[in-house]
Order: sequence, then structure tokens, then C-alpha cells
Amino acid sequence: MSQKLYLVPEDWKDARIDDDAYRTLYDESRSDPQGFWAREAQRIDWITPFAKVKHTSFDLHNISIRWFEDGTTNVAMNCVDRHLPARADQIAIIWEGDDPSVSKRITYAELHEHVCRFANVLKKHGVKKGDRVTIYLPMIPEAAYAMLACARIGAIHSVVFGGFSPEALAGRIEDAASDVIVTADEGLRGGRKVPLKSNVDAALEKVEAKSVIVVTRTGAEIDWVPGRDFRYEDEAKHVSADCPYAEMGAEDPLFILYTSGSTGKPKGVLHTTGGYLVHTSLTHELVFDYRESDIYWCTADVGWVTGHSYIVYGPLANGATTLMFEGVPNYPSVSRFWEVIDKHGVNIFYTAPTAIRALMAAGEEPVKASSRKSLRLLGSVGEPINPEAWEWYHRVVGDGRCPIVDTWWQTETGGILIAPLPGATDLKPGSATRPFFGVFPEIVDAAGEVLEGECEGNLVIADSWPGQVRTVYGDHERFAQTYFSAYPGKYFTGDGARRDADGYYWITGRVDDVINVSGHRLGTAEIESALVAHEKVSEAAVVGYPHDLKGQGIYAYVTLMEGAHPTEHLRKELVKWVREEIGPIASPDVIQFAPGLPKTRSGKIMRRILRKIAEGEFGALGDTSTLADPGVVEELVRNRPAG
Ligand code: PRX
Repeated sequence: MSQKLYLVPEDWKDARIDDDAYRTLYDESRSDPQGFWAREAQRIDWITPFAKVKHTSFDLHNISIRWFEDGTTNVAMNCVDRHLPARADQIAIIWEGDDPSVSKRITYAELHEHVCRFANVLKKHGVKKGDRVTIYLPMIPEAAYAMLACARIGAIHSVVFGGFSPEALAGRIEDAASDVIVTADEGLRGGRKVPLKSNVDAALEKVEAKSVIVVTRTGAEIDWVPGRDFRYEDEAKHVSADCPYAEMGAEDPLFILYTSGSTGKPKGVLHTTGGYLVHTSLTHELVFDYRESDIYWCTADVGWVTGHSYIVYGPLANGATTLMFEGVPNYPSVSRFWEVIDKHGVNIFYTAPTAIRALMAAGEEPVKASSRKSLRLLGSVGEPINPEAWEWYHRVVGDGRCPIVDTWWQTETGGILIAPLPGATDLKPGSATRPFFGVFPEIVDAAGEVLEGECEGNLVIADSWPGQVRTVYGDHERFAQTYFSAYPGKYFTGDGARRDADGYYWITGRVDDVINVSGHRLGTAEIESALVAHEKVSEAAVVGYPHDLKGQGIYAYVTLMEGAHPTEHLRKELVKWVREEIGPIASPDVIQFAPGLPKTRSGKIMRRILRKIAEGEFGALGDTSTLADPGVVEELVRNRPAG
């Protein structure tokens, strides 16, 4: 834990919220959540005003989360239409292409037209309120248009990250029972093409869909299924540039986003309309101290929740200019981020520790070659940031001027829950600091006892907040069991945390079987089931281990079928296999062939031991006396691959 303290800089003292205001508002949000949120919810436009504010129950037998439930509104209206009187000509989206010579600026008036046309195309393909639309697009403006088009007509989008394989895509299309897929011919990242349409074709060999709407990105030759596949540009020409927005209940679903858990298939996290928008727009404004005419850039992909909440919905609800970047940090060179900041005059920059660590490894030169004078604030998200990377980000990227907001949250939380407010919070490198308004974190021990003062344990949230996940799509029981059964009456985050003497939170990482690889969340069970689907694999156990750049790496122990041989060739084949089953982000870093796995006498795999071996901590294996065959452990230690 870093002991260093970075005080709120003098020139930040005029920010909207100072320390006194933070404490006053936080206390109010605790003592009168109804009053607090009734007022804050006025930041969005309602069609029918709500009378009820918060109506939530964390009782395991009746998990029910409803905010502003009798109000009606429309998310696209809030993100687009309501800005037109004052901001028609203001830039809504700056799009920076993979190739540095390609960029586009889209005004709010243009955004309105694009969203309306997209909505009309969806309608033409039969999409109605409540229908699910799968969006499998690269980072192009059409991704935002398609999401907002769904919101406009009350359809539920399910965005699938373009790095997922056909197999993973098929699973998500099937779970959401989605008839319409929106994709592109190809994606373009770091100069490399991503065969999106051909992945959709492969997915649709396994599951059915009625229409595939294909946006042209590279113009590549692609296979075409007449009657099923449609060119977006052709469709858009023949529909009206206007489309009325639907009146949606605050609790009508807005989107499903699949995320990994400890067990089973990825879960469809469901977010709804009113509370989600209030939460994302409020946090976007206060945590990033967003000010009129700021240029704001979040480097996430729209395939993840960060892209949903802090590229699209939060910023656009606030009438901001949001930058969307198609490329990667190291193409064409490791200066790319800094060049884009100078090119567009970015004021607020929000990225992930894994990118910071990778760029830090390239040294200060590429950063120093840029000006970055426009930068005012830096943000971090997705995984714990090690103090070394924090210091580098602050000193080198921010020239020591810019506060860093380390924002802790999850797909399930919808928006930021723990983070500094830059004008209010003194910073400690590596700490996400204090809870946002209306967020009541607690640290509990294994028995569920709430710990007080300085402590370390599991992180739970004691009461609901507006952006909270409402259910797991199609499986409310799984929702209840996953998040509310470990500590009855509280939402369990799956993370461990420490709280220091100043009440600051330090997230220590997942305490369940979820791993975080370069800020991407993966379930070890998912990778294991991909491995055992291979004909030569009889059993697999996957654990995370510390990795300098990725945060965590993937370590897979694999037991082969009788007669199969552990060769280098098979090792490579298995890595390729996992890439094909899930996607490149799930590629194992290490595969150790293991004649046997350490199990208890009742047959349970002892992951604690496997984690220690993966970490190279052979001295700390702990008690192995309960193992069915303690010899297995020695064998694993002896044969651990070097490196
Ligand atoms: O372990 C925490 C880590 O990322 C997990 C959530 O992953 P996901 O749902 O994919 O959402 C990522 C983007 C919000 C959390 O359970 N995490 C996220 N942000 C931080 C973090 N860990 C430490 N510090 C953070 N700032």
C-alpha cells in the first residue's frame, strides 16, 4: 500500500464538489436517499414524472430493484433530442479511426438523423419494443447509433465485444433469443482486419436469426445469404430521417450485457432505463468534473460496460463531446494515445491500468514527444492500479498536474461506485478512495460479520443504487443466488477490499473464480469447459497468476485422455482451440500438462494449491494432508514450466 498522499491541487478547489460538499451530500444521500435521488433524477428529462423514487428489496426470497418506477422517459431522447435546441451544431462524437489519417466529427444534429435512420431500419426488420438486438460491431460511430436506435424504439440491445469468437457470439445470441444481428463486414484494429461478418456467419450455423444488418467498414468481399443479410447503407437510404421515440417505463430494460462469473455460462446482466441513466450521467459529470465544451475520451470498447456507460450513455446524456477510438494504444506507434490527445485537444482521459503498464514499458520518450497541455484529468478503470503505474501516469502522462480518478465499479453496478471526486478527495496511489453518493460499501469477514474501521475482507454494498443490475436475463433465481446469497441482505461484489484509517477503500481483486486479464473479466470455469471440449483433454483447471503487463495471466492445468501425448504441438493446438472457443482474450499464457490434479477425498479440486504453484510459491502450499493423493502436488511442482 502506498502511503503517499496527493492533495487536491489549488486550481481544483473551484470544482463543483469540494470536500465539505462531498461530506454534506454523502450524509444526505445516506439519511434521505429518497430525497437525494428524487432531486438528482431531475437531471434527465422525464415524459411522465415519477412519484415513487426507491423501491428495492435485497431479501433473498424477494430480490426486487425498482427506481423511479412510475416515471416514463426515453434514453435516446435524453442523449440526443433534448440537446438539439442548444447543441445541434456541437460535436457529439469525435471518431478517430485505426489509421491516424482518418477521423470524423458528428454533430448532435447529425447524430439525431443517424439514430433515427438506424431505428427505422430496425423497425423495418420487425424490431419492436422489448425485442433483443445483438450488436457485434467494431469501434465505429454506427455502434453508438445502433445502441441509441434500440433505446429509441424500446428494443433491448446486447452488444457483444468484437473480439469474441463465433462460438461465444452464438451462445449470446441464443441466450438473448435475438432475431436481428447488427455487424460490419470487417473490423480494423492495429492495422489488422477482424472478420466480423464471417464470424456471424459461423455463429448462425449454430443458432438462428432472421436478419443480419451489415455496416460497411472496409468494403471487403464477404459471403452473403440473400433474404437474411442486408447492407445497412442500402437500407438507410430508403427510410425516413425521423423516428419518434417510444415512451418507456423507468424500469423497462435498456440493455443486456454478458459477463463472466465463477460458474457456468456468462450471465446476461440486465440494466433498465431511468435509474441507469441518472446514475451514469451524474457520475460522468461529477467524477470526471465534466465541464461544458470539454473533450472527453474513454478508451474502452463499447463491447464492455465501460463503453456503454462512459463512451455512450453518461457523456451523451450530459451533452458532452465523446471521443470514440477504433484502434489500439501501440499502432502505428506507442505514441498513439498522446498524439490523439493533442490532435483533438482532449481534456479528460479515461483508460485502463493494463494500457498504462504497457505504455510505461515503452519509456517516457514517446509520451514526452507530445504536448498533452489540454489534459486536465486522468481516469483509471477495470482492475487495481499498482502504485508504480499510478505514479507514472500522474508524473509522466499528466505532468504532475492532473488528478487521477481511480474508479471502481462492475458490469453489474452500471456505473462508478467508489472513486475520488477530483475537487474533493486527496489521492492515494492505488486506492479508489471513497464511495460515491448513495453508495454504502461494507467490508465483511467470511462469516458475514461487518468489520469496522481499518480492516480487510470481502466487499459488499448494503443498499441499492439507481444503476444497479436488475436481474440476470431469463434467470432471476441465478441473479438472487449469485449476488445475494453469500451475505444475506447485501449485494456481494465478488471483490476483496481493505479500508484504511481514513476510510479509503483499496480493492484487492476478485475473491471468486473470476480472473481479470488486461482488464477483461473471464470466468475460469468458462476456459475450463472450453478446454475439456477438446477431444484429447479429460480434465482442466484454470487459475490466474500475477502478470506484469496483464495484471493477471491465465494458467491452465490440463490432464489428457488415455493415449494422448503431452507435446509442444498439442500445447499450441490447445491455445488455438481456446481462442476459437472464446476469443483471443482467453488464450492461456501457460499450459501445464498434469497427470493428475490435487483433489480432496471427496473429489474437489484444490484451487488454492494450484494458484500457489502457478505463482511459483512452492513454500506456501499449506496443508496438503487432506488430499486424496499428496504425490500429485510434488509432481506438479517438479514439472512446472519455466518462466
Ligand atoms: O475486480 C474488479 C475490477 O473489475 C471487476 C469488474 O469487471 P467488469 O464487470 O468487467 O467491469 C470492468 C469495468 C467497470 C471488479 O469486480 N475492477 C474494476 N475497476 C477497478 C477494479 N479493481 C480495482 N480497481 C478498479 N478501479
